[in-house]
Parts: sequence; structure tokens; C-alpha cells
Amino acid sequence: MSNLEELVTRAIGAFAACEEPARLEEVKAAFLGKDGELTALLKGLGKLPPEARKEAGSAINAAKSRIEAALHERREALKKSQLSAQLAAEALDVSLPGRGEAQGALHPVVRTLERIEALFASLGFAVADGPEIETDWHNFTALNTPADHPARSMHDTFYLLDEAGRVRADILLRTHTSPVQIRAMQAHTQAFAGADPMPELRVICPGRVYRVDSDATHSPMFHQVEGLWVGERVSFADLKGVIVDFLRHFFESDDLAVRFRPSFFPFTEPSAEIDVAFRHGPLAGRWLEIAGCGMVHPHVLAAGGMDARRYTGFAFGMGLDRLTMLRYGVCDLRLFFEGDLRFLAQFR
Ligand code: FA5
Ligand code: MG
Repeated sequence: MSNLEELVTRAIGAFAACEEPARLEEVKAAFLGKDGELTALLKGLGKLPPEARKEAGSAINAAKSRIEAALHERREALKKSQLSAQLAAEALDVSLPGRGEAQGALHPVVRTLERIEALFASLGFAVADGPEIETDWHNFTALNTPADHPARSMHDTFYLLDEAGRVRADILLRTHTSPVQIRAMQAHTQAFAGADPMPELRVICPGRVYRVDSDATHSPMFHQVEGLWVGERVSFADLKGVIVDFLRHFFESDDLAVRFRPSFFPFTEPSAEIDVAFRHGPLAGRWLEIAGCGMVHPHVLAAGGMDARRYTGFAFGMGLDRLTMLRYGVCDLRLFFEGDLRFLAQFR
């Protein structure tokens, strides 16, 4: 039956021409459907003489199986190519810029603070805290700087206004961390009232402070770390020992020059400024003041509740941002507070 052979070839060709699964099903109906060509041949079997029917029937059924097999094969092929087209369309474009997982990190000033806390903890210093809106009494008066004292002009202070817009005389943004000295001494003398001798007080007090100040080494908001050590025989030699030991460890460097420059603070006597300079690197040869220090004035010990005839102490106030500048070789301290990620990301 050559017309059967021709039918099979035509069906295979028609299936192969289909590019869409839906089209393939339509074409299938034309051959195998209720009114399809092959179905018509099967229906026609009844008209044949009985002796021819068997042979014709098996030939038609063989052709049907081949057509069905071709259909199945084409269906699978279309499915596969559709899948690979889909994969190609949805593929990841590795040349696109990534959305990225932005990785956070500690601010360089915070890293410096953590280092300082760890180094002073190893010398037996605890960490104490105080408010950033401070009383005038803690910030100045208790630190031997009464209202009309000329030393108040050393700090360009941010004051607060009351509801009527008048400057409040009783509170201000603290200009240094030294008021925490008073708070720490008061807490200590209360905690050890009657102890003889009173245990030594050794604290550092880190925090934000505020002054009307702005240039490459001054920022209106900056950070200080106060240090205070009070005991029975604490001397200026102890102060120098602690500071020099701290600076060597902090900078991990022998390249560092340190000097104690005589100075004045109302709350210490004698007083000094601590300057450091590197011999090499971007800041080489430039003395940068990093701290004020001195022996705690007897009036200040008294304001803190200490017996000033029996106990002595030293105190220092370091500029945390200045230390961070020196450690990382940064030339303008305002960069730390501009929030520019291109700058900050370098410290990850
Ligand atoms: C004081 O504030 C004293 N309270 C320090 C002190 C404490 C002396 C205890 C004695 C005993 P001074 O104003 O010098 O001192 O500031 C201390 C340090 O803070 C400076 O050495 C400097 O490193 C840093 N500093 C001061 N002003 C600024 C500023 N505007 N921006 C950044 N750092 C500053
Ligand atoms: Mg100073």
C-alpha cells in the first residue's frame, strides 16, 4: 500500500514542520483525530472484502504506530527546545553589576575607642559614663572653674535655650569629658564610704563632647577619653608611665616621639599637654596635641568627695579623633564625620 507509506512520510514531514506544541496537536488531529486521514482509512476497512481486511488492517495499524511514534518524538523534541530557549532567556547575565551585599564595619573612631578600652582595661581601668547634656556645675564649677573664671573662655561652649529662647545658665553640651571625673569620684566615695583606706579609683570615661570649633584638626563634635587614677600615693611619674606605656602599645611603634609640654588647666596642678609626632609617614615631623593632663587639683578631689589631704591622683583627657588620625595617617579629622563611604570603607 504505497499510499500508506506516503501518508506516513507526509505525517512525519508535517510534524517536523511544527515549531509550536499547539500547532503540533492541530496537525496530529489531521492524521489521527476523529476525522483524520488515518481514522478514515480504518473506517474504510469495513468496505473491503473480508479476505483483504486482515492484511489491510494490520498495515494501517503499523502505519498508525509509526505516525504515533513520530508524533511522540516530535513532542519531546519541542519540549526540550522550549526548555533550552527558556533557560537561555532567563539565564543570569554575569556581566551585569551585582546588587551586592554591602558589608558594614566599625567606624575608625569606634575601633580606636575599643582599642583604648582594651589597653586601659589591662592596666586595671574600668569604664565610666556621663551625660552629654551636662550641668554647668559638673562641667565647670566642680572642676575649679567658677562662673567668672577666665578659663571658661578656653572652651567655646554650646549652650541650650529655654522655651522663651533665653540661654540656660544651668545646663550645656559638655565641652570635655572631665565632668565624668566628678561623677566617678562621687560614685566611688559613696560606694566606699568608711573604707580605710578607700580602694583606688581607676577609670576611663570615653564620650562625645561639643565646642564651637571647626578646622582640619578641630570638629564641633568630637570624642575624648578621660582618664582618672586616684589613690594614696599616685604621682606625676605614674601619669607619665601610664601615658607612655599606653601610647607605645596603641601605636605599636617605636617611631613615635612623645612630649609633655607645661600647660594650664584649672582642674589640674601641675598641668601639661601631651604632644606626639611620628618620624616617618604622611604626618612626619608634625607635633599633634593629643591630650591634656595633670595632677588632680585638691578642689576637684574635694568636689568629688575625696579627702584631698590623704589622696592624690592624676587625670588626662585625650582627643580620640586625633589619635585615630595619627594611627591611620589621616590629615583632616572632619573626614571622620562626613559619612562618605568611599573614605570609611578603607577601614574595613
Ligand atoms: C581638655 O578638654 C581637658 N579637659 C583635658 C584634661 C583632662 C586636662 C584631664 C587635664 C586633666 P583640651 O581642650 O586641650 O583639654 O582638649 C583635650 C584634647 O581634645 C586635645 O588635646 C585634642 O586632642 C582634643 N581636642 C580638643 N578640641 C578638639 C576639637 N575641636 N576637635 C577634635 N579634637 C579636639
Ligand atoms: Mg589643649
